[in-house]
Amino acid sequence: MTIFEAYNHTKQKLKAAGIEDSVYEAKIIIKHITGLNNSQILTEYTKELTEFQQNNLTAILRQREIRYPLQYILGEWDFYKYKFKVGVGVLIPRSDTEILVEKCCEYLQGKTEPKILDLCAGSGCIGISLAKDFPDSAVVLLEKYPEAKRYIDSNIELNAAFNTLAVMGDIFEGDAGGQPYDLIVSNPPYIPPKEMAITSPETKFEPETALLGGEDGLDFYRAIIENYKSSLKDGGMLAFEVGINEAKCVAELLKNAGFVNVDITKDLNSIERVVTAIKE
Ligand SMILES: C[S@@+](CC[C@H](N)C(=O)[O-])C[C@H]1O[C@@H](n2cnc3c(N)ncnc32)[C@H](O)[C@@H]1O
Repeated sequence: MTIFEAYNHTKQKLKAAGIEDSVYEAKIIIKHITGLNNSQILTEYTKELTEFQQNNLTAILRQREIRYPLQYILGEWDFYKYKFKVGVGVLIPRSDTEILVEKCCEYLQGKTEPKILDLCAGSGCIGISLAKDFPDSAVVLLEKYPEAKRYIDSNIELNAAFNTLAVMGDIFEGDAGGQPYDLIVSNPPYIPPKEMAITSPETKFEPETALLGGEDGLDFYRAIIENYKSSLKDGGMLAFEVGINEAKCVAELLKNAGFVNVDITKDLNSIERVVTAIKE
């Protein structure tokens, strides 16, 4: 089978499995199994795949047919400007979350040596991206589950983000104290259980502990606002990613807790995705 035939075969198989972006994924898979870049593929598309590459392709397609996430198969994924290792036990970084990082960057612009806390850090994609963009910052990443925490550790290494500290902790147990932060950011679990049925088939392979946010999806926002407000400096920012139809409720929770300048930002699909607020 040539590279070109493998690409067409992959596209067809992915489409038949109900995968929307079969063209984009087929390109990524062919690049992954051949080790070639875009321009090399264009010049070498008549080259035969080796037996090893064909077996690898078959194995990948079998996994994608049952909708096992591509990101877990590849073992790493691009988020914002950086690469992150991902696998079973950790949430796959989503492009929607890049909006949250961008809002944080706007706020941090011009600040010297900002102290940042990333709660429910998962792969560490938010905190590590901020640490890289603001090398004079000090970033603490807090995560409850060891399966996810080991990804934070390897992503700190991968990105050489040594102005970070990964710690294990539970946001429901309150803040461990310590220095007040300029910015507290979180993309916590926020899906209400009744909405799990309508998530993508790939999401079923991600840990429920990274997804479920209590009966109305808002348990983590309530706990973080209550437990971590005292850990923010005056004038510091609390920044959340929120689920569909949650932004107004989270904005209300923040106002009721005395936060000011409560602001909602939409994502590229015009869904209210990020809520930020300032501690007076
Ligand atoms: C929605 S994921 C977000 C991961 C990452 N911040 C991102 O944006 O990709 C939520 C994360 O919170 C962690 N988590 C769940 N319950 C927690 C708790 N009580 N305290 C701290 N982290 C928790 C999960 O393990 C998961 O890694």
